[in-house]
Amino acid sequence: MKAVVYDTYGPPDVLRFEDVERPVPKDDEVLVRVRATTVTRSDVHIREANRSNGRAMSLVSRLVSGVRGPRHRILGREFAGVVEVVGPAVSEFSVGDRVFGLSGLTFGAYAEFMCIRESARIAHIPAGMSFEEAAPICDGALNALMCLKQADLRKGRTILVYGASGAIGTAGVQLARYFGAEVTAVCGTKNLELVKSLGADRVIDYTKDDFTKNGKTYDVIFDAVGKHSFKRCRGSLKPGGVYLPTDGPVNIFLALMPARKGAKRVVFQLPPRQPKKDVLFLKELVEAGQFRPVIDRRYPVEDVIEATRYVETEQKTGNVVLTVSTDAAGGSR
Ligand SMILES: NC(=O)c1ccc[n+]([C@@H]2O[C@H](COP(=O)([O-])OP(=O)(O)OC[C@H]3O[C@@H](n4cnc5c(N)ncnc54)[C@H](OP(=O)(O)O)[C@@H]3O)[C@@H](O)[C@H]2O)c1
Repeated sequence: MKAVVYDTYGPPDVLRFEDVERPVPKDDEVLVRVRATTVTRSDVHIREANRSNGRAMSLVSRLVSGVRGPRHRILGREFAGVVEVVGPAVSEFSVGDRVFGLSGLTFGAYAEFMCIRESARIAHIPAGMSFEEAAPICDGALNALMCLKQADLRKGRTILVYGASGAIGTAGVQLARYFGAEVTAVCGTKNLELVKSLGADRVIDYTKDDFTKNGKTYDVIFDAVGKHSFKRCRGSLKPGGVYLPTDGPVNIFLALMPARKGAKRVVFQLPPRQPKKDVLFLKELVEAGQFRPVIDRRYPVEDVIEATRYVETEQKTGNVVLTVSTDAAGGSR
């Protein structure tokens, strides 16, 4: 089968096409013919061994994905496609089912076929959704959900989502709204209308206003894009308020520090948990019309390098989709 592979960590042009052996599903796995995938920040970070995040992060990244070079040659975490083969112990899926999901640290979706355990993060595509629309359901939303679950969001609680226009932010706004909280979203000028349309009660343009200086306070501040800090946000939290980061070694350290009862604090799920039941929850939200992944650009997989360069600008709005075969736009809804 054709796949996008890489053998050394580095810039986007380490990615190249190669004919590789088609994987064979184990007893409890399905083989999926991939029709659409995405370029996420995880794909980017792993490919460059997190060099842009400093030496310490780069070392941790290499310990996870291979010290000298990538242990898994095929990137791609999110996928949507059709079940081609099922292992003998599989009961939830049948040949021909339309599925979407998120692979683990083995990646593997930048290929014509990939294997995944049926008990892993895989579910049926909601009716009426194309492969391109389904591929970006998981990554941003599972990251957002994992963070927001720590914050007891409900009616009467207030949240500020910083970086509301990224993959995690666009999902975070919709999920916070679903949980009943009052949502203030912060993004750049070009994304204000989009973010409002996702359900934000109020929007702030960070190029014009600094939310830390307007005197307003929130129960929760969700830094969905890793561009703020607990130190700078602290004054905008109510007593007992929580700051939810998406990454950053400093935040992990702060989250592990004991905090006085009722003190403002950093909360981060350690170790990260994104279980299959959360994928099924997202599927239900999509079916109920309460969540939709935002798609910025779509590229044929042949343009994976160009798509990756765009993601690396850190200016994508929502998600960037790769189409793996020509009729992935929804030919077989
Ligand atoms: N997605 C993942 O796979 C993943 C996994 C783990 C951790 N993370 C981390 O989570 C963070 C967000 O990931 P993501 O995939 O959601 O990001 P993303 O989609 O790449 O975020 C892009 C958005 O960030 C906004 N932005 C850029 N600079 C900003 C700034 N200074 N202030 C406010 N907004 C800014 C831009 O919006 P405007 O045009 O509106 O400014 C753009 O729409 C990153 O730090 C990433 O490393 C991501």
